[in-house]
Amino acid sequence: MKIVTIVGARPQFIKCSALSRLTRAHPRVEEVLVHTGQHYDSTMSDVFFEQLGIEKPRYHLGTGGRSHGAMTAMQLDGIEKILTAERPEVVLVYGDTNSTLAGALAAAKLCIPIAHVEAGLRSFNRRMPEEINRLLTDHVSEWLFTPSAEATRNLAREGIGAERVHEVGDIMYDVALFFGARARDEPPPPELAGRLDPRGYAVATVHRAENTDDPVHLAAIVGALADLSRRMPVVLPLHPRTRKALSQTGLADDARNIIFLDPLGYLELTKLVQDAALVATDSGGLQKEAFFHRVPCVTLRTVTEWVELVDLGWNRLPRQLERAAINEAVAAALQHRPTTAASPYGAGDTAERILAMLDGAYPPTP
Ligand code: UD1
Repeated sequence: MKIVTIVGARPQFIKCSALSRLTRAHPRVEEVLVHTGQHYDSTMSDVFFEQLGIEKPRYHLGTGGRSHGAMTAMQLDGIEKILTAERPEVVLVYGDTNSTLAGALAAAKLCIPIAHVEAGLRSFNRRMPEEINRLLTDHVSEWLFTPSAEATRNLAREGIGAERVHEVGDIMYDVALFFGARARDEPPPPELAGRLDPRGYAVATVHRAENTDDPVHLAAIVGALADLSRRMPVVLPLHPRTRKALSQTGLADDARNIIFLDPLGYLELTKLVQDAALVATDSGGLQKEAFFHRVPCVTLRTVTEWVELVDLGWNRLPRQLERAAINEAVAAALQHRPTTAASPYGAGDTAERILAMLDGAYPPTP
């Protein structure tokens, strides 16, 4: 069985590492990796390939740094050519980025079955580019691998046939288990050496367009993190989009206590999260990683796709995206540590389950 896997953005490199490790060892499966180039800096891309042992992509499309339309169109064109040449049994896409949608569209037009890992997530906010990418990808996919019961229910509500939906758990949990132990021995980034006490600091990330491109939201977030930084160190590795927005708005000038860093590798960030008192983030992946390492989290949005974590008390949402409301959520998260042992995202064997299902469905031709 030949699988063409499409990746392009940071969280996809992390997710694909789990399944790619298995395909490499599988006698009957060939995986062809395509990197769309949506994320292209060494800190946003190369470091993940090195740290997570992902094979060098066979194709690299170099489509980063463009508008949504231009990027998606260029990806679509490049992926169509690759699929026509490679003729795989399945095209595998992850998550909700422009690269996900381009991979799904290209495959759908060529009538190649699509496997979507992390299917069924919804924010119910169609102003988010990610929501459009998820909806469209799910509706053209043959294999919808959901991470949770809630995601499975979302697909049922949209009329997607249950025979296409497989609740396999969250593949990021596989990665957190596999690399979590290795991250424990990771030295801190040099800028942080000697500055952080275990459970005495917070880690924050901000990258969503809904926050970085809205000066009111960005000011509320930076203001709240600055307030927290007067209580404990706040480490904020900056996504390139956020760095640009902060320098354009001058907002960072009023937040001198925050420790701004370049983006971190997976192991460095995991180590920081493992020992933190709190995570504050608008990233879906980091919300879950906080939970996997049992660190309370405040989401820097008023909605989340990972609703289970809010129900369990590990994640808190501000009532509004305002400084005072974020401060309230932070105070509550630091005060009340949940004790539940629930594990809503499977057993850490998601990649194995996906590969077994695909392998069973495409037997060797006699
Ligand atoms: C994308 C995904 C989002 C995902 C996120 C993870 C879409 C619509 N969004 O958002 O779902 O959660 O990735 O990070 O696909 N840039 C660099 N260097 C890089 C990468 C990007 O400077 O290595 C710049 C780009 O040129 C652009 C900005 O950062 O100006 C944003 O990058 P973009 O590819 O639009 O997506 P993300 O915001 O990262």
